[in-house]
Amino acid sequence: MSVLKSLILLAALALSCPALAQDKELNLYSARHYQTDEALYAGFTRLTGIRINRIEAGEDALIERIRNEGARSPADLMITVDAGRLWRAEQLGLFQPVRSALLEARIPANFREPGGHWFGFSMRARVIAYNKARVKPGEVSTYEALADPKWKGRLCVRSSSNMYNLSLMAALIERLGEAQAEAWGKAVRANLAREPKGGDTDQLKGVAAGECDVAISNHYYYARLARSAKAEERAVAEKVGVAFPDQAGRGTHVNISGAGVMRHAPHRAAAIRFLEYLASDEAQRYFADGNNEWPVVAAVRVANPVLSAFGTFKFDPVNVAVLGRNQPAAQKLYDRVGWK
Ligand SMILES: [Fe+2]
Repeated sequence: MSVLKSLILLAALALSCPALAQDKELNLYSARHYQTDEALYAGFTRLTGIRINRIEAGEDALIERIRNEGARSPADLMITVDAGRLWRAEQLGLFQPVRSALLEARIPANFREPGGHWFGFSMRARVIAYNKARVKPGEVSTYEALADPKWKGRLCVRSSSNMYNLSLMAALIERLGEAQAEAWGKAVRANLAREPKGGDTDQLKGVAAGECDVAISNHYYYARLARSAKAEERAVAEKVGVAFPDQAGRGTHVNISGAGVMRHAPHRAAAIRFLEYLASDEAQRYFADGNNEWPVVAAVRVANPVLSAFGTFKFDPVNVAVLGRNQPAAQKLYDRVGWK
């Protein structure tokens, strides 16, 4: 074979097989900043020789930045929290679809967008927190139970514009239908102890302080308090019980932290490789444990005392893309019932 012919063959191979493209770096836009992330990124570089350049910003600022950078964006991939936010980025056209046999084998179908635009890598639960001295766990075994008039003036929850609540309502619309979900929103709104304010941690503190008896919160805010180095934060957690709703029914509403490859990624092959790395046993542990979350790869276990104390639970297996798709309807519903 002539030299020219070999060169043409090589070039054709490189074009047809992205794995041959030798990216040496990767531009990662992340809304995460946990201690375990250092080990996570170091593990990837050790394995692949690919250097990671990190841009960190808040969730919404990150999306805005990539959007403004447009076709010239150096972003290869974005890591952020909540399926609702990943869906929003997808709607803005920021992701490109990825097919990976490895990701499809490792990540359960309900935790990834069916078109491959984004993938979940850890799972969080939206739980009901209650004051252990005033409420029995059996009283809050479903989200629907919070609509009972007996909770009037006793319930704390953050603003409806918050993504976690939008995703929760999106799930309720899917499972209960819009009319029943609206009745629930209206009743819960009528039970509020105070106008929605603060984040999930503030709702937990409200429960401990006796401002309210029950609250809705992501589980890891409780875990952070329970594992805090500060005695006063641990004291908050000690007063609070955590109920995983709907164990006898569809299962607790869960969400994800996830990532996708950007539409204009300059290092597409490296980006896919990083996603595949995130699905590995080692990375699953670091990624989930950094925020007291559960790995989406079910066989992977994290050694986390709070998660161990929770034990296993049944979760609603609705596809995470639904949490995005129903988001506009959820927002309108909250507006109609006056849940600010
Ligand atoms: Fe959070």
